[in-house]
Amino acid sequence: MAEPVRAASFLDKGGTGKTTSVAHLGVALSEQGHEVLLIDLAGKQGDLAKHLGKWNDVKAEIEGDDDWPNISTVFDDTWGKIVDKLGDSAVDELIVETDEGPDLIPAHPGLDSLDAELGNIDDAEDRYSRLDNFLTEHIDSRGYDVVLVDLPGLTNNVSYNGLWAVDGVIAPVEMGPFESEQAVALRNDLEKFQERFPTNVRLAMVLPNKIDSRTKLAEKYLEAFSEEYPDEIAPEPVPLSQDVRNAAERGQTAFALEDPSTTASRAREAFLADAEELVKRLGGSA
Ligand SMILES: Nc1ncnc2c1ncn2[C@@H]1O[C@H](COP(=O)(O)OP(=O)(O)OP(=O)(O)O)[C@@H](O)[C@H]1O
Ligand SMILES: [Mg+2]
Repeated sequence: MAEPVRAASFLDKGGTGKTTSVAHLGVALSEQGHEVLLIDLAGKQGDLAKHLGKWNDVKAEIEGDDDWPNISTVFDDTWGKIVDKLGDSAVDELIVETDEGPDLIPAHPGLDSLDAELGNIDDAEDRYSRLDNFLTEHIDSRGYDVVLVDLPGLTNNVSYNGLWAVDGVIAPVEMGPFESEQAVALRNDLEKFQERFPTNVRLAMVLPNKIDSRTKLAEKYLEAFSEEYPDEIAPEPVPLSQDVRNAAERGQTAFALEDPSTTASRAREAFLADAEELVKRLGGSA
């Protein structure tokens, strides 16, 4: 069985659309016939589970003490022993099915202290490679075509685990005067990361998000991004869409809308085109 393509949504900045992109690219890939697993490492607030309408279920498990093992357990020194004891069911326990296609490993309050706990591990390779080991040992054989990881909007030990584990980074960017600098910084950081550690991570897709096509300025920024990132720019920018935001608040992606607005339809088309291109760039089977 082929190993899944792995990508992470990451930018050292909050609110640009990392979670929205993981959810929408994940559903788009599902619609295109791929088996998809989404993993939320972005924080205990569980945004990805909320976006896919699963947060109430996840919260009930957490409040009902039925939440062990969970995603933070995977990073623990004892994880190997837990799996020895429980077998595959330890991994089954982590995975939730969603209504829109992808499977999901949701966030957990244990993610709160994870950065500090990883910081206590002396050996850098051991500190940063735990997600990679988990994916290689327990996820690669499960028949997924694509694994997408949602990361915190800051550089820490958790996001480094994400970068270590994946083939490519998706960087959702908004259009603004300083945004391009952030994407340049990310590209430089990834290059340094690669020089220091035995990983192959690269910037796979710069994904312009929340494009307001009514403004001339947005078009200008978009052009600047395309010039700066001729190889990484996404084929289709994602429009600003109140419908996308409203759907997220109800626990749905734009793909679940029965009567989508023009902007929501365009967002869907964009995510479909970008999902197809992402898999191509990362060399997955289409
Ligand atoms: N194309 C879009 N049109 C309209 N609203 C959007 C769009 N993309 C994202 N949003 C909204 O912008 C807000 C931030 O998006 P999102 O949560 O995906 O960003 P993030 O990078 O994951 O943020 P954080 O750093 O807090 O995790 C959300 O309210 C989301 O619904
Ligand atoms: Mg987020």
